[in-house]
Amino acid sequence: MTQPPRFAIAIDGPAASGKSTLAREIAKRLGLVMVNSGAMYRAVTWKVLQQKIDPNDSAAVIDLLGRIQIHCGEVGMTSTCTIDGVDPADELRSEAINANVSAISAIPEVRDLLVNLQRNYLDHTSIIMEGRDIGSVVFPDTPFKIYVDANETVRAARRHNIGEVDPISKRDAADSERLHAPLMVAEGAVLLDTSDHTIESAVNAAIDILNQQGLPDLGELPPPP
Ligand code: DC
Repeated sequence: MTQPPRFAIAIDGPAASGKSTLAREIAKRLGLVMVNSGAMYRAVTWKVLQQKIDPNDSAAVIDLLGRIQIHCGEVGMTSTCTIDGVDPADELRSEAINANVSAISAIPEVRDLLVNLQRNYLDHTSIIMEGRDIGSVVFPDTPFKIYVDANETVRAARRHNIGEVDPISKRDAADSERLHAPLMVAEGAVLLDTSDHTIESAVNAAIDILNQQGLPDLGELPPPP
């Protein structure tokens, strides 16, 4: 029996917009692998800082890229990345990484490398991927695109609730203003403002949008790996 083609759902949006929670919950409901692309940019930033390289020295960062092995896959239904065999997962949300990840993700060579790894997921599974440029650059041809947003007060409160004091407006400005693959509403993306939603109502709204975009019947999905 021929299997239906694999597909990617693209979830983009600024920091603390609710996109990670939303992507994770949609993934659970639909039985899809959830890929956190921000974690990949954070992992490279972790390595740069660990090697005591100046994140603003793009030549040194590019040189590092040629000397490290990055592997991305999934454990269960969630993406993971190792660099030189180490999974820095627990350290990815440090203040130092929050403060430097935008500089690292503005380097085109970093993006090219990670975008390739992101696209590779589709070689073996259907995915829901969250990030900043998933609908615009990584999977521009997917019909399934949502741009998630929330007002600034709600976003700052969400960060505070998880104990983070990340200056998100500064990071959002850097991510939106960079030359290469800036944060933007991708062509064809539907906007979902989660400010007044509970998690459950946001997931329901997102699934309605995906159904309107023609999401295949779940019964037709290839089984997860
Ligand atoms: O989703 P996050 O906050 O963990 O992402 C961390 C940073 O990574 C974000 O500030 C910009 C960068 N990023 C990116 O440039 N492109 C993506 N697709 C995902 C994240």
